[in-house]
Amino acid sequence: MPVSVDLISAAFKRDPYPTLMRMVEQGPVVETTFPFLGKVYMVTTHAAVNALLKDTKNFIRDPRSLGKSPLPGFNWWTPRCLKIMASGMIIRDNPDHRRLRILVDQAFSRSSMEQLQPRVEQITDDLLSEIEQKGAAGEPVDLVEGLCRPLPIAVISELLGLPPEDRDMFANWAERFAIDPSFRGLISLLPTLWKMESYVRRQIKLCRQSPRPGLLSALVDVEAEGQQLSDDEAVGMTLLLLFAGHATTTNLIGDLILELCAHSDQKDLLFEDWSRIDGAVEEALRYSASVLSSKPMYAVHDLKFHGLELERGDRVMALLSAANVDPAVFPEPFRFDILRNPNPHLAFGTGIHVCLGLKLARLETRVAILRLLGRFPKLELAVPREEIRWTALKGMRGPSQLPVHLHSEQA
Ligand code: HEM
Repeated sequence: MPVSVDLISAAFKRDPYPTLMRMVEQGPVVETTFPFLGKVYMVTTHAAVNALLKDTKNFIRDPRSLGKSPLPGFNWWTPRCLKIMASGMIIRDNPDHRRLRILVDQAFSRSSMEQLQPRVEQITDDLLSEIEQKGAAGEPVDLVEGLCRPLPIAVISELLGLPPEDRDMFANWAERFAIDPSFRGLISLLPTLWKMESYVRRQIKLCRQSPRPGLLSALVDVEAEGQQLSDDEAVGMTLLLLFAGHATTTNLIGDLILELCAHSDQKDLLFEDWSRIDGAVEEALRYSASVLSSKPMYAVHDLKFHGLELERGDRVMALLSAANVDPAVFPEPFRFDILRNPNPHLAFGTGIHVCLGLKLARLETRVAILRLLGRFPKLELAVPREEIRWTALKGMRGPSQLPVHLHSEQA
C-alpha cells in the first residue's frame, strides 16, 4: 500500500524530523506516490541508501535506456533547453558519466580549492562590508539575501571564468530559479532558460576563439583535444554546475548560521576553538537536510532489494535526509552536535554520482561562517526561530530569509 509522504510543505520544512523518523521506521524501502511522478520507492535507512547509490549493476540513472522518458510529458516538442538540462551528467550512466565527470573533476580538486580560497575570502569580506553598511542604522539585515545567496553565485561565476561585467546578469538569472519552484514557475522561466542557454553558447564560442582562465575555456580545450564534448554537453555541464552548486550551498550556509544562533552552547564550543568549524559544517550537512534526496534511479530488471520486490523500470530514490538521522548509525540523531564523531552522513550522496562540488561547498560554508562570526561575534536572530521562513524549492531545505541583528545590543 503506497504511503503518501509530505516533503514539500512549510510544516515539513519547519520540522522535518517526525516525518523522516517515520520513514526510517517504515524502511528500508517505502512505496510512496508523488504528484507528477506517480509511484516512487523511497530508500530510507543508512545501509540501504549506501547500497543503492553504489549499485550501478541493478540501477541506472537514464530512464531512456529502459524506454522511459526522464520527465513526465518529455516529448519531441519539449524545448531544447529543457532537454539539455535533463541530459546532464547527473542522470547519465557509465561510460558516458565517467567521460563527462573526468572533464570537470580537476577543477574541483583539493588543490584547485586551495587556490580558490583567497578569492572566496575576498568575496565574502566584500559581501559582509555591504551587510555591515545596511545594518549600520541598527535595522535587521537578511543574511540569505546579503550573503548565503550571492556568495555561491559569485564563486561559481569566477570558477567558470565568466566576464566580471556579466556576473550580475548571470546571478539574476540563476536567482530566479532559486526562488520560483513550481511547475508553472518552471514554464514561466523558460524564456530565462533560453537566455541563459544562448548566453553560455556565446561564451563557449568566444572561449574557442580566444581562451581565457576558467573552467569554461578548459571544457572547450578538452573538446579540442578530441574528447568529444559536444556543444550541448558543454552547455548542459555549465547549467548543471550552476544549478547544482547554487541553492544547495545557499541552504547549507543559512542552515548552519541558523543552528548556531539557535544552539548557543554549540556556538560557544565553536568560539572556544575555531578549528571545530569543520565538524560544524559536517553536522549542518547531516542535520539540516539541505538536499533531501538523490535524483531518481531505475531498476534495470526485476529484483529483490532490501526485502522488497521491485520490477524492471521501477523508480527508486535515496532519501538522504532520512539516512542522516538513522539511529542505527547516529546516536541521538535529532541533537545538533558539532563535536559528533564519527559523522558518516550521506548529504553529498555516494558512489559514482557523489557530489562533484563537495569540497567547494565545504570551503564556502567554512569561510562564510568564520568571517561572519569573526566580524560579528554577537550576531543574533532578529525573529524567533519559529518565524523563520523556509525555501519553497522542492527537494531542498534551508531558510529563505535570515533576519539578524549584527550586534546583539541592538536586539
Ligand atoms: C551544500 C551543498 C551541496 C550539497 C548538499 C550537494 C549535494 C549533492 C548530492 C546529494 C549529489 C548526488 C545526487 C544524486 O546522487 O542524485 C550531488 C551531485 C552533484 N553536485 Fe552537489 N551538492 C552541493 C553543492 C554543490 C556544488 C557547490 C557544486 C558545484 C558547483 C555541486 C555540483 C554537483 C554536481 C555536478 C553533481 C552531479 C555529480 C555527478 O553526477 O557525477 N554541488 N550534490
